[in-house]
Amino acid sequence: MIILKSPQEIAIMREGNRILARLFEHLAPLIQPGITTAELDKEAELFIRSHNAAPAFKGYRGYPATLCTSVNEEVIHGIPSPRRLVSGDIISIDVGALHDGFYSDSARTFAVGGVSKKALHLMEVTEKALHEGIGRASAGNHLHDISAAIQKVVESAGFHVVREFVGHGIGRILHEDPQLPNYGKKGTGPLLQEGMTLAIEPMVNEGTWKVSILGDGWTAVTADGSLSAHFEHSVAITANGPLILSAL
Ligand code: MF3
Ligand code: CO
Repeated sequence: MIILKSPQEIAIMREGNRILARLFEHLAPLIQPGITTAELDKEAELFIRSHNAAPAFKGYRGYPATLCTSVNEEVIHGIPSPRRLVSGDIISIDVGALHDGFYSDSARTFAVGGVSKKALHLMEVTEKALHEGIGRASAGNHLHDISAAIQKVVESAGFHVVREFVGHGIGRILHEDPQLPNYGKKGTGPLLQEGMTLAIEPMVNEGTWKVSILGDGWTAVTADGSLSAHFEHSVAITANGPLILSAL
């Protein structure tokens, strides 16, 4: 069941998501060669707690950290660790918070030092796919219009959309209905309505859409070891079209 939110509830969700947007601004200058993903995680947890919110992922189905930090061929759910970032890495940081009864969820991929042209291109295409998808998040469209828009951007660049993980509704629960695949057919899926709130999150791989899960039970990696990028915004469908909650 898709739960619609009132304008008041959307305002609360916007506040919570803005904490994440500010967190990314806070983390960006720290994402340099030499820092560990555990240090980024600690910084993020302190930041969220000092902004009247709680980490959403920590404890979720036993997940141990505030951030998901997925480096290079890691797609999502990389667990923060003593691993030090090196120049040339790309790191996807996914984070959620609980603020005033509502969840927020957002992700971005960052370059560490100087990265390859192909890595930059992958990141650009993934972010562009997210924004093309968001552009379809208007009342009267169908859910899979978002999916199809994302898939088109990704595949016309020669990259691949991960199929095993999807975006989702978000609200008083982190993962609400509907599930939102990053591939699909225009004109299909539930009709979008004012008051829906969606976490739209393309995960894009360089070489194949196939992924496998590491022995830690969490980390998804590309099956062929190629690079992966991930961008995510929480978005509300309003009378004035899509409203990105997790942007400043
Ligand atoms: N952003 C991720 C998602 O929407 C949340 C990670 S879940 C956790 O699925 F278990 F890793 F916390
Ligand atoms: Co999400």
